[in-house]
Amino acid sequence: MRRTACDSAALSAHAIAAAQPSAVPRVLVVDDTPANVALLERLLRREGYAVVTAADGHEALAKVRTDSPDLVISDVLMPGCDGFQLCRALKSEPETRLLPIVLVTSLSGADERIRGIDAGADDFIAKPFDPHELRARVRSLLRLKRYTDELDSAEAVILSLALTIEARDRFTQGHCLRLSQLGAALGGRLGLGVEDIQTLERGGILHDIGKVGIPDAILLKPERLTAEEFAIIKTHTIIGDRLCSELSLLRHVRSIVRHHHERLDGTGYPDGLRGREVPLLAQIIGIIDVYDALTSARPYKSALPRDRALEELAREVEKGWRDPTLVREFAALSVEKDCDAR
Ligand SMILES: [Fe+2]
Ligand SMILES: [Fe+2]
Repeated sequence: MRRTACDSAALSAHAIAAAQPSAVPRVLVVDDTPANVALLERLLRREGYAVVTAADGHEALAKVRTDSPDLVISDVLMPGCDGFQLCRALKSEPETRLLPIVLVTSLSGADERIRGIDAGADDFIAKPFDPHELRARVRSLLRLKRYTDELDSAEAVILSLALTIEARDRFTQGHCLRLSQLGAALGGRLGLGVEDIQTLERGGILHDIGKVGIPDAILLKPERLTAEEFAIIKTHTIIGDRLCSELSLLRHVRSIVRHHHERLDGTGYPDGLRGREVPLLAQIIGIIDVYDALTSARPYKSALPRDRALEELAREVEKGWRDPTLVREFAALSVEKDCDAR
């Protein structure tokens, strides 16, 4: 099926993610009739909200990118991209699917409501507006938006905690960010969906978060670890999994955090999973984790050049530890990246 410009509108994830929740809630009003826009704008401004406006769905998608509103109130029938298409476009993008949308329907609009529910609308307001009803709906949807923003910032705290933990060890600087970027790039190359790619992005940063529970004396020990110390290091997978289980929005990364040290022949840790039991996203991060460790210097070893590190990964495939296709695709990606960097 051909995607229309209105469908996904290529919303820039980063532009939206970078936008901070505003102190004064901002409402985007979408209507092709200027008098309706003016009426809603007046009502909303009187309530103390900031208002941005758009004349159709296309303009609305652009305003979502540039103004990051907290709520969208949209007319249904508009030329070009209508209210249903706008709903679908916003609800299909991970960055905007939690942005509440109210559709303005005519009083007898049962059909419109059913189509609106299908398109993902959060609420409906019938024309002509009852200002009290409008105020109450806007207030409750903005409250909902604030909760989701708070969840977002809880995630931001966890992500920065992960980077702080990484900063304890000067020899692993940049490791998590590299895993995040390469993980997302490999996911894209493998044709994974947006959610999986986002999970790889987060999982790269969070995979070693359990190291928060490992004593410095072991984590930062410059010499090789004893068997006992290595057993303690291994528990970072279980500690990290437990930490992530506390926050429901991190549920997707848990498999990466717990299983990025598993091997396909069952000799990895912590659960000794075999073959397909090892989650795909954990396999991806696991491969990049090994590659990054090989190509980084440590107090007890120097960094390997890319080709040598890839040979080492190929040997891990021969031993039955890694999936050959994933390693092959990663090798191709790292060669491409290296060429781009030159
Ligand atoms: Fe790890
Ligand atoms: Fe790691």
